[in-house]
Amino acid sequence: MKQGKFITLEGIDGAGKSTQLAWIVELLQRVGIPSVVTREPGGTALGEKLRDILLDGSFMIYPETEALLMFAARREHLGRVILPALTKGQWVISDRFTDASFAYQGGGRGLDTAKLEILEHWVQGALQPDLTLYFDVPVEVGQQRVSQGGSIDRFEQEKAEFFQRVRAAYLDRARQFPGRIKIIDSSQSLAEVKAAVEQTLRPLLNNV
Ligand code: TYD
Repeated sequence: MKQGKFITLEGIDGAGKSTQLAWIVELLQRVGIPSVVTREPGGTALGEKLRDILLDGSFMIYPETEALLMFAARREHLGRVILPALTKGQWVISDRFTDASFAYQGGGRGLDTAKLEILEHWVQGALQPDLTLYFDVPVEVGQQRVSQGGSIDRFEQEKAEFFQRVRAAYLDRARQFPGRIKIIDSSQSLAEVKAAVEQTLRPLLNNV
């Protein structure tokens, strides 16, 4: 059986990933590709508990602890959800994955990238997503969208400078891995973003 494809969605808070995720699922359904939708941190029972801790604004958490918990959740996620689904030929769409650790814990919190690479190698070996859609928006746009939403979590309460660093780190990674990470300008209209997503997915869909 053919392995499924692993697609990840990234962006600063308020970049509009969730809206696009629904559209990607619809696209896959239309062409008859079975998919599993999941998220990080989370995706497993233990991972969702770690997510609650990580997003709880009442905790003070060292950047190292934050990174370790993200990768702990990721190890469970890979072993129990992502890899089994890919092996069964299902496509996996994950709302965030390891690029978020490089962007938030690396860029945002200033953790040494070499340390994150050790964790990455430890937890996932050589496995990388087949495609990563990075939804890029200016920080002001992201922050405005977040403030219109419901409650604010531990990351969303960070200042604009934090998200500037996160965005810069995402853009750096997109430059570093241009074959895998595709930048989608998420400040366009919804219809334009949808069209860009479809166009970016097309080569993978044509290859099934
Ligand atoms: P998010 O994906 O934005 O969910 P929601 O749309 O429900 O707010 O929330 C997850 C938060 O976790 C987000 O602020 C980014 C952060 N995060 C990291 O800092 N590092 C990581 O490795 C991952 C996966 C997420």
